[in-house]
Amino acid sequence: MKAVIYNGPRDVRVVDVADPQIEQPTDVLVKITSTNICGSDLHMYEGRTDIECGRVLGHENLGEVVEIGRAVYRIKVGDKVCLPFNIGCGFCRNCEKGLTGACLTVAPGQAGAAYGFADMGPFQGGQAQYLRVPFGDFNCLKLPEDAAEKEDDYVMLADIFPTGWHATRLANLMPGDSIAIYGAGPVGLMAAYSAMIQGARQVIVVDRHKDRLKLAEQIGAIAVNDAEHDPVEQIMELTNGRGTDKGCECVGWQCHDHGGQEIPNLTMNNLVKTTRATGQIGVVGVFVPQDPKSPDDLMKRGQIAFDMGNFFFKGLRMGSGQANVKAYNRELRDLIHADRAKPSFLVSHRLPLEQAPDAYKNFDNRIDGWTKVILKPNE
Ligand SMILES: NC(=O)c1ccc[n+]([C@@H]2O[C@H](COP(=O)([O-])OP(=O)(O)OC[C@H]3O[C@@H](n4cnc5c(N)ncnc54)[C@H](O)[C@@H]3O)[C@@H](O)[C@H]2O)c1
Ligand SMILES: [Zn+2]
Ligand SMILES: [Zn+2]
Repeated sequence: MKAVIYNGPRDVRVVDVADPQIEQPTDVLVKITSTNICGSDLHMYEGRTDIECGRVLGHENLGEVVEIGRAVYRIKVGDKVCLPFNIGCGFCRNCEKGLTGACLTVAPGQAGAAYGFADMGPFQGGQAQYLRVPFGDFNCLKLPEDAAEKEDDYVMLADIFPTGWHATRLANLMPGDSIAIYGAGPVGLMAAYSAMIQGARQVIVVDRHKDRLKLAEQIGAIAVNDAEHDPVEQIMELTNGRGTDKGCECVGWQCHDHGGQEIPNLTMNNLVKTTRATGQIGVVGVFVPQDPKSPDDLMKRGQIAFDMGNFFFKGLRMGSGQANVKAYNRELRDLIHADRAKPSFLVSHRLPLEQAPDAYKNFDNRIDGWTKVILKPNE
């Protein structure tokens, strides 16, 4: 089959690889019809992780079941399914509690596993014609009869819609709250969208890319362009000097100033400044235990100079981590089915798999208008 592999920094290739097989009786095989490129892929693409050459990338996958193992009970050949980016077993102590982003079974010795991802187990990704899904009964989200018609929406259930939602839940967003979201990439836009759905009274989104900020405004958020003026001052002005009730980090450790210089503690310390005393912060932008290539000495060891004094004095609370996709994907699917959510508003490109190398390059350079790419491996 054809697949997108990592071949070194800023080098992905479409090559022929062996078709995946049913390896365990609980596996299912899915023919992939939509698979997104994610901001998380860019950390790997830029050579900032230790993903090995030859690995198939892709963790935002949707398709049709073409084969099932003999112990698969619920899922049938022909089902249209969306696959959470994190792979869970369904029976470990974390999965049982809905914390499927920290499954203890699938990648033994660590908490959490994912398709085509650095440090998340040995699994191949779905930017390919076919994908092997472990524990298929648990991991497949079945899609309703409008699966094909709303495929652009449903494929966002693999990661960014639940992840944006998770950011707001980590921040304990309540109806009527104000919330500031750093980052207007796909994850930040989904956090803003989730906050609107949950009845936030004021949603502020910070970025410097005008095309992304425009999408934030389209869904009713207030855009703050940090290239024009200090984002902290802008947020304080918008909140009468009090700061927002809640805040979300949707950028990660490669956050930078608008000139492009990486400052790994920038968004975290801005959040401490712009969240009102006793407020809550949700961090879904990825921070890593080490990045030897970071220009920042602390970050080489996975650390940042965090404004702990103000965090404590303000009595702030914080939650972080991978989204537990399965904790939300069923309900978010039902919102899409009922026409109450349309997360595909941020999709900019639908491309054949062969165009993945160019798509990676353009998305990585945040070229104007490249907000979210869906690859179509079987068209
Ligand atoms: N926790 C999870 O489960 C999970 C899931 C998916 C993605 N992620 C992570 O979320 C992050 C965002 O993903 P994405 O797909 O939206 O990526 P993206 O890279 O497309 O978007 C990031 C945005 O942040 C902006 N930005 C950079 N520095 C900034 C700053 N100082 N202030 C404000 N904005 C700034 C960039 O301009 C860009 O638009 C990544 O770190 C990704 O790995 C986490
Ligand atoms: Zn993703
Ligand atoms: Zn588990």
